[in-house]
Amino acid sequence: MSEEFSNHSDNREFEDVLNTYMSRRKLIVGSLAGAALTFMGGSAASASAGKGAATGAKVAAKAPKIGFTSIPLQNSAMPTIAPEYAYSVLIPWREKLDGSGTSFDYIGFTAEQQEKSIGIGHDGMWYFGDDKKGLLCINHEYGTTPHIMGKRVPTNLEEVRLSQAAHGMSVVAIERSGSKWKVAKSAKNRRIHGNTVAKMSGPAAKSALLVNAAGNKVQGTLNNCANGKTPWGTYLTCEENFNGYFGTTSTTWKPSAEHTRYGIVAAGFGYDWHKFDPRFDLADASYANEVNRFGWVVEVDPNDPKSAPIKRTALGRVKHEGAELVVGKGGRAVVYMGDDERFDYVYKFVSRANWKTMIKEGVSPLDEGTLYVARFDDNGTGVWIELSPKTAQLSSWTLDKILVHTRLAADAVGATKMDRPEWIAGAPTGEMYVTLTNNTQRGTTGKAGIDKANPTAVNTYGHIVRFKDANDHLGGTFNWEVFALAKDVTDAGGQMFGSPDGIWVDPDNRVFVQTDGEQPGKQNDQLLVASGVTKEFKRLFTGVKGSEVTGVTVTPDRRTMFVNLQHPGDGDPSISNFPAEFQGLGGPVPRDCTIVITRKNGGVIGS
Ligand code: FEO
Ligand code: CA
Ligand code: CA
Ligand code: CA
Repeated sequence: MSEEFSNHSDNREFEDVLNTYMSRRKLIVGSLAGAALTFMGGSAASASAGKGAATGAKVAAKAPKIGFTSIPLQNSAMPTIAPEYAYSVLIPWREKLDGSGTSFDYIGFTAEQQEKSIGIGHDGMWYFGDDKKGLLCINHEYGTTPHIMGKRVPTNLEEVRLSQAAHGMSVVAIERSGSKWKVAKSAKNRRIHGNTVAKMSGPAAKSALLVNAAGNKVQGTLNNCANGKTPWGTYLTCEENFNGYFGTTSTTWKPSAEHTRYGIVAAGFGYDWHKFDPRFDLADASYANEVNRFGWVVEVDPNDPKSAPIKRTALGRVKHEGAELVVGKGGRAVVYMGDDERFDYVYKFVSRANWKTMIKEGVSPLDEGTLYVARFDDNGTGVWIELSPKTAQLSSWTLDKILVHTRLAADAVGATKMDRPEWIAGAPTGEMYVTLTNNTQRGTTGKAGIDKANPTAVNTYGHIVRFKDANDHLGGTFNWEVFALAKDVTDAGGQMFGSPDGIWVDPDNRVFVQTDGEQPGKQNDQLLVASGVTKEFKRLFTGVKGSEVTGVTVTPDRRTMFVNLQHPGDGDPSISNFPAEFQGLGGPVPRDCTIVITRKNGGVIGS
């Protein structure tokens, strides 16, 4: 999803940034000079990456085998897949969680039924299991009334409740039987949605900015976009465009500067929840801070069905796309995060200590640590700027204010405005890939003008940057390069893709790229596989008209991959009836679903 940009801050004056940098240099671990000498995954790069990988790299960067036949772009109501591969459909929207393999009907579908079945808007996900059975945690980003009920806006509270219940995430046990996967009956199967009781944790949990007069019960998670997973076995679900659910009919309500910076406006996105549920009414004094309770990374324990989802305030409040957790030097949990909006930022959180030690102490590694925002300098280096009162520009801020109004804190320290940072994925080389999906409002000069990390004016098709931190993810600096400008990646059919969004790098350095948005020739969104070494791309799978391809996870043997088709046909049966064969308007309403991908010879996906 996207919307108008709300970052009007003044962050591109490099001189100012540099002056600031010099004045708080002592806070930065390492030096720019040191960083410049450290290995960068690419630049002159790729071909000699094996050599360069000397510093901090965990594996040599040998070119992975990507042996399948790349397929053409297409524009049909059904998916296509490379001839060496096959796909099947799992957990479509409305499938019951009871393992019966049946679904609730579209006609007469209720909120209560939705709470017992798979949500809609399948997005980021992670599979916790072995090669035959496990738990799939899956986000439900998007569940507004046009998609669920075929009507533009809700007309009563029950319809709002249905829409709220369609959001959030599912924990669902799945198992393989022969070549097919299906939902298994399990006490762990559950839905977490827009009204589930949740908790706030971390440094801002008790902040006055999160208190409501109506009481302090925290409820719900919304617009759950991309994801993360932790080495202690939990799942991270990330709240992206939360602002759009809030609105008001009050003519006296005025947005604060903080509201404006997060795109919070009286009209919302037109969802109209606020007309029936006062929790989403911006002018309701009892819920004055409700909007501050969204925009977080939320931790869920898939193995404890009674546990509440926990909003981890130490990771800051932005329109969180995803949360890629890697283990850095000394066992620190390091989480990389994008804030998906035009001209917004890339963030990193580093846990206070070794994650195992913290868990032994009874402290979540996601509750104590330091948040940083990235500045990408034109010379291919970058700086992680600490978002705490220790940084000069934030010396008058309290930590809770920084964490609740993170975007404004990042504006104050001169972070680099990026072209909509979506997913971030860690490679086995220690490099991090960030998709910058597009930004048609990028100009040529001035505050919103191009820079080396965002080098395309009117960036219709987006790009992918990769960076590598100094000191095994703990350094205050990093090196970066552009991995791919989508407009320049071509095959015999011309430009291959646009709007990169989902991304995952396998242990062999295959880079899986998923798209959401404008493709060449306005064709369907897709899943591509690139070599992290040669940068060669092939197209493995194409989605259906009107859908986004997102979410990527595999079984441990990597012989089964799960991806998602979000909003096939944009919910319109005249465009697609997927997963049903195309019949047109008289056919079934299309259903968001998970796609199971296997190689016909049983090989590793992507090979
Ligand atoms: Fe939910 Fe930025 O994609
Ligand atoms: Ca989406
Ligand atoms: Ca996305
Ligand atoms: Ca997107």
